[in-house]
Amino acid sequence: DWSPASFVESTIDSLKSQLGNDKVVLGLSGGVDSSVAAILLHRAIGNNLTCIFVDQGLLRKNEYENVLESYKHMGLNVIGVNAKDLFLGELKGVSDPETKRKIIGRLFIEVFDGEAKKIKDVKWLAQGTIYPDVIESVSVNGPSVTIKSHHNVGGLPEKMNLKVVEPLRLLFKDEVRRVGHEMKISPTILGRHPFPGPGLAIRILGDITPEKVTLLQEVDHIFIEGLKSNGLYDKVWQAGAMLLPVQSVGVMGDERTYESVVALRAVQSTDGMTADWVHLPYEFLSRISNEIINKVRGVNRVVYDISSKPPATIEWE
Ligand code: XMP
Repeated sequence: DWSPASFVESTIDSLKSQLGNDKVVLGLSGGVDSSVAAILLHRAIGNNLTCIFVDQGLLRKNEYENVLESYKHMGLNVIGVNAKDLFLGELKGVSDPETKRKIIGRLFIEVFDGEAKKIKDVKWLAQGTIYPDVIESVSVNGPSVTIKSHHNVGGLPEKMNLKVVEPLRLLFKDEVRRVGHEMKISPTILGRHPFPGPGLAIRILGDITPEKVTLLQEVDHIFIEGLKSNGLYDKVWQAGAMLLPVQSVGVMGDERTYESVVALRAVQSTDGMTADWVHLPYEFLSRISNEIINKVRGVNRVVYDISSKPPATIEWE
């Protein structure tokens, strides 16, 4: 008879006997799965769990600071690694989406490995893998792209000679949320939209510069905060903004401008494999568009993506 309470109790028991006094390392992403896995393990083995949260410079605006703060607040032993310059440096001039993903995946492993090595006698790598990941890692999501190719730090356990522990391996997403709720994890963490491991890198079409990242963070922030303050955030499965690699003509005062176009995307889905675009109210879209164009320098046009998956994917890269 499955219930969140009994799952929590029995999992903590079995983690205790499985791990004993061993040291465990876990990569936090800010997402639901890794957060719930971390709290479960922390309940079982306390500070023998070390969490690592990497800022690759491609997160949402203020996300790194906010998430790190809330993890510390939950009592987790967490190391934040600011690796922005490394990631953005290596991504410089790279436009191909798959190359971006590979670079980010490789650097993530390098940075994570470097930090994990500093933990004396670490024996286990914990991951927030859930049941759909177990299935999806067998299939592919478009040419050579495994969903979560970045967070399922493939190759890492072998490289580091670590054993793997995955306490959520048999759960579906809604069960993970219920388990998190049971452990009193804040609803803002449990209700978070999914966010891709490569982050804004795959929402900046074409090459990535620090200026483009900042611009897109501002646009995304206005959109996401707008969804929240209008009671729409929880009605959407995933939302975000894309920076297009084209400029279009606009007018400001007497001057013609030639500036960037951003696309907003909001979808409804259950697992990301198929998705419908969300019919956000015109009034809302109109206000958000005005706010973006008024506040974000360098953007003079906003479009809304009305394509569903398939055939369009959720991300644009
Ligand atoms: P697509 O664009 O394929 O996205 O319809 C489906 C879901 O997967 C996420 N996504 C990724 N997540 N690494 C990730 O961790 C990736 O490379 C990646 N590509 C897409 C996307 O955000 C959506 O939730």
